[in-house]
Amino acid sequence: MNTETTKPVILTGDRPTGPLHLGHLTGSLQNRVAMQETHDQYVLIADMQALTDNAHDPGKIRRNILEVMLDYLAVGIDPGKTTFCLQSGIPALHELTALFMNFVSVGRLERNPTIRSEIAARGFERSVPLGFLNYPVSQAADITAFGATAVPVGEDQLPIIEQTNEIVRKINNQAGKSVLTECRAIIPKVGRLPAVDGSSKMSKSSGTAIHLSASPDEIRRAVRMMYTDPGHLKVSDPGKVEGNVVFTYLDAFDPDEQAVAELKDHYRRGGLGDVKLKKRLEEVLENVISPIRSRRDSFAADPAEALRILKQGTRTGDLISKATLDRTREAVGVFSFDDQYELG
Ligand code: TRP
Repeated sequence: MNTETTKPVILTGDRPTGPLHLGHLTGSLQNRVAMQETHDQYVLIADMQALTDNAHDPGKIRRNILEVMLDYLAVGIDPGKTTFCLQSGIPALHELTALFMNFVSVGRLERNPTIRSEIAARGFERSVPLGFLNYPVSQAADITAFGATAVPVGEDQLPIIEQTNEIVRKINNQAGKSVLTECRAIIPKVGRLPAVDGSSKMSKSSGTAIHLSASPDEIRRAVRMMYTDPGHLKVSDPGKVEGNVVFTYLDAFDPDEQAVAELKDHYRRGGLGDVKLKKRLEEVLENVISPIRSRRDSFAADPAEALRILKQGTRTGDLISKATLDRTREAVGVFSFDDQYELG
C-alpha cells in the first residue's frame, strides 16, 4: 500500500474468469507496472462482477482468484507499491451499490451500449440476470469507493465510466457538496492484441489466447495455429503483412524493430516462409514469457503467501471503502444510530 496521499488514486480490475494472457500484458499489466511508481494504485479482483454472468459456475471464479493473483505478481505488480483487493471481501462496495441503484433508471442501464452488446453476445435476451444489468452501478461503487480519479480500462468500458460520473454528479448535486469524486478513463494507446486465430478479441477460455503461464510447448502450438496470409501458399509467393497475426505479435513483442522491418520487407517480396517466420516469433514469445513463468512458478510454490497479500490489501480496501460509504450514507440521508435522534 502507498501511504502518500499526494499521489493520484488509480483503480483497475479484472474479472477472475481465467488466467491472464498476452493481451492483458500489453493492454493493461505493463501499464500497471509503470503506474504503480507514480500513482496510489489499487487492483481489484472483481469476483462479484464475474458472478453476474457466471453464477452457474462459481467454482471457476473461486479457482481463478489465485491464478490471476499469481499472474499479477509474476509480471511485477509489486505488493509494496500496489494494493490488491478482492471485491467480495469488501461489504461496503455492495452497500454503496445498493445506494447507487436508486440514482439510476432501469432504462438507462438497458440503453448502455456496452451492456446492450454484452447481453446480445451472451444470448441473454429477456433472461438477463439483474446483477448483470446492474454491473455498471457496482463498478461505479468500486471506482468511487476508492476515490479513483483515473481508471485504466479498455475502450469498451467508456460507457461504464460515463455512468459512474452520472451517479457521482447526481449524488453531489443532491447533497450540495462534493461527496464523491468524478473519474476519467485511461485508454491504452496500443491496439488490442488479436487472438491467435485472427479474431478481434482474445477470450480467456477459447484456446485462442496465449496465457502468461504458457509452457514452451503451448507457445509453440499457439504460434503454429496462428493466422498468417491465406494467399501465401509457396515460400516464394509474396505475402501480406497487414492482418497477419504473426507480424502483429512481432510488432508487439520483438524488441528488435529493425529486424522486424526487414522480415516484413522479405515477406512482402516473397521468399520468407511461414515456418521460419513463426520460429522467430516462438523465440520472441519464449523470451517474453520465460521470466514471467519462472517468477510465477516461485509464487505458485507458496499460494498461502499470495492469498495473504490479497487478504491484507482487501483489509485496506475495506477501510477506505467504508469511509466513502459512511460519507455517502450521511450525504444521501440514510438513518444512522450514531446520530442524535431528533424527535418531533
Ligand atoms: N469491468 C472490468 C472488466 O471487465 C473489471 C472491473 C470491475 C473494473 N471493477 C472495476 C475495472 C473497476 C476498472 C475499475 O475487466
